[in-house]
Parts: sequence; structure tokens; C-alpha cells
Amino acid sequence: MKYLIANWKMNSVDINVWEQEFVNLVSSQNNFPKSDEVRLIVCLNLYDYTVFSEKIKNSKNEIFNKISLFTQDVSQYDEGAFTGQISSKFLKKVGVEGSIIGHSELRENGDTENIVFEKGFRLNEQGLSNIFCIGENLEILENNKKKPFLLNQLQTFCKDNISPGLLAYEPIWAIGTGKEADSENIASAVSIILDFFENKKIDCPILYGGSVSKSNIEEIISISGIDGCLVGNSSLDGEQFAIIASKIKS
Ligand code: PGA
Repeated sequence: MKYLIANWKMNSVDINVWEQEFVNLVSSQNNFPKSDEVRLIVCLNLYDYTVFSEKIKNSKNEIFNKISLFTQDVSQYDEGAFTGQISSKFLKKVGVEGSIIGHSELRENGDTENIVFEKGFRLNEQGLSNIFCIGENLEILENNKKKPFLLNQLQTFCKDNISPGLLAYEPIWAIGTGKEADSENIASAVSIILDFFENKKIDCPILYGGSVSKSNIEEIISISGIDGCLVGNSSLDGEQFAIIASKIKS
């Protein structure tokens, strides 16, 4: 099974147009991967969730109506006086399947390793899944500190029965830059992560994220140990996202 995740971030996406473009592309291809070959997930805000989940329910396209919906963040608290935050209980109540946690854009805004762990814990309490993001910045990469840095992110998260549902390796220097990480860098991260998982007996798909597009998806997905991708910019357009999905096969 391969995985393809759209992270719409705080962008406005016209869901009618997105659905139409996605479905048109899927229908135009005879051998579009089946839903048991590629799992598609869209991470959006709760308002769009309501609109999109209705679309999924009403769609006659069997690829579109198998799309899973996640959010992009969750509170680390259970409930209480936390203005503006959204708890895992609320996510559960509306029917969201899980959330991204640890995205670098949230880490830049104050999410420490411990906060990311707490968020994973809250999701787990409600039986929801997580897409756990890790990745180094350029300074860490250039100072050859990538391995201890990634290991620390993994160690802080994988404890007390908490583990990633999906792990996304997203080097910060490749996010939104239009320049994906090279195969060597991705492969070295995969080997660090796989060793860690093996040690801890964790079985979890590993995804890559950072400037994934229809032009580089085939190269990235061919890297050994990569089970899928997390896509930001190129997921805002339903056709582009479907083209990327069409190039992923188990
Ligand atoms: P990008 O974003 O594809 O636009 O680089 C990826 C991400 O932030 O998850």
C-alpha cells in the first residue's frame, strides 16, 4: 500500500472545482491505482471538512469517495479555557480520522517535541490517527547533526504506547521551496528512521514531504523505504494531485 497526503494548509481551495478536476483526471485514466493500492488523505480545516465530507458521501466516483479526511493540528489539552484551540474530542465528534502533528510550520510557532507528544497522546486517547512530521533545518544538515536530531524527535515521540500512524520525513529546507531533497538525503533519513523503528518494533509507513510535484513523484517514490508522500502546494489543484496519485503504485 502507498500513501498520498494533501496538506492544504490555510489556503482557500474551491472544493467544487477541486472535486471536478480530480474526478475528471481519474476518469480519464484506465489504470488509475485502486483504493487498496493507494490511500489518499486530505488534511484541511474543520469548515472545509464539513463541505468535503458531504461531497465524499455523495460522490459516485469510487476513488474520490474513499478519500480520508484529517486536520492539520489538534490541541495538546483535553478541554478547558484554551481559546481558539480544537481538542481531539471535537475532532472525534465531527468524524475526522486524525491529524497532522509536528509540522515544521507549527514547530516554528512554538510546538516543542513535548507538545507534539502531548498532541499525539490526545489523538490516541480518542482512537484517532496521527501523521507525525519530523525533519531537520539547513543548519542542522550542514553541521552534520541530522542523525541525532531526527533520533531525538523520534525518541521523544515514541514512548508510553504512542507511535506514529504515518511518519512524514519533511526536511524544512525542502518545504515550499520548489526544490525537493535529493535521493541521497531522503535515503539516509529513511535508514535512520527504519533502524529506530526496527529497534522499537514499530511498524509504520514512511513518507517524504517537501516540494513534491508531478515531475518528481516517480523518482521519490522509487527510493527504497519510501511508502508515500505528503504534498503541500501541488495538492491545491485537484488535477495535479490526481496526476501525482496516478504515478504512485504499490
Ligand atoms: P510543499 O509542502 O509540498 O509545498 O513543499 C509540504 C508540506 O509542508 O507538508
